[in-house]
Amino acid sequence: MVSVYGVLEDVRNLLCRKQGGSHRIKDHTQLLKPCNPLSRKRIITSIMADSKEQRTLDYVLQNAVRGDPQSVLDFIDKFSENEWAMHVGNVKGPIVEKVVTETDPSTCLELGTYCGYSAIRISRLLKPGTRFLTIESCPANAAIAQQMIDFAGMQDKVKILQGSSQEIIPRLKADHQVETLDFVFIDHWSECYTPDTKLLEECGLLRKGSVLLADNVVYPGAPDFLEYVRTSGRYDCTNFPTHLQYSKKEDALEKAVYRG
Ligand SMILES: C[S@@+](CC[C@H](N)C(=O)[O-])C[C@H]1O[C@@H](n2cnc3c(N)ncnc32)[C@H](O)[C@@H]1O
Repeated sequence: MVSVYGVLEDVRNLLCRKQGGSHRIKDHTQLLKPCNPLSRKRIITSIMADSKEQRTLDYVLQNAVRGDPQSVLDFIDKFSENEWAMHVGNVKGPIVEKVVTETDPSTCLELGTYCGYSAIRISRLLKPGTRFLTIESCPANAAIAQQMIDFAGMQDKVKILQGSSQEIIPRLKADHQVETLDFVFIDHWSECYTPDTKLLEECGLLRKGSVLLADNVVYPGAPDFLEYVRTSGRYDCTNFPTHLQYSKKEDALEKAVYRG
């Protein structure tokens, strides 16, 4: 039996996603708990069959070159020029790449995988043996991202951790053998930026010189995060003004280097 509660929550979830996440649900895994596993799978499959994320994946699978990360990125960008999406995109992407290349990290964390675009963009630059962990709370997005990453040939470089950042960050040392992080790409919901930054500090995951790079600090905006990293005395900050992906709206990335 599918519970009414479960179905309603699924529909609400779908509507949120179609509205671009304006009523964001933080922990999608909780929403379907009242359904039995088979019903849950059927509901997710039918909802995701029509999702923008699934259509993006289908477009890539039909048009891009398997094993060619640039081709996958190009076709995601092409699809998203027509239907706006949350990937970091081809205007901010080169800024992210420049910071990653300068940092030359050995251990990386991304908060917010979505369809895997930035994971593919970043991981292709990393030297052999570098770890790239990316956390995604939405199971459907994580499943799409895994297929996108596999198709791009980046599956050995990227590990998706499905769950919320608040749950997973405190377990990174014990469950994933992370000592400290060299580079963190912060790109989930902006209200999580400050609490998760403090959580990374409290969990001893930052060392002197760890680089945080936060997206969307102007649009939709992360004023409390900017205030925290700029005034806490714990970071050296650089702002990179740019534009929102697939749009003319102003946006910026903020780089914050931990002082230790
Ligand atoms: C802006 S998108 C990420 C875009 C991706 N970094 C890229 O550029 O390709 C944000 C993603 O973060 C996820 N998310 C939001 N809050 C989260 C949290 N607390 N923990 C993990 N993932 C979260 C959302 O489900 C969404 O898929």
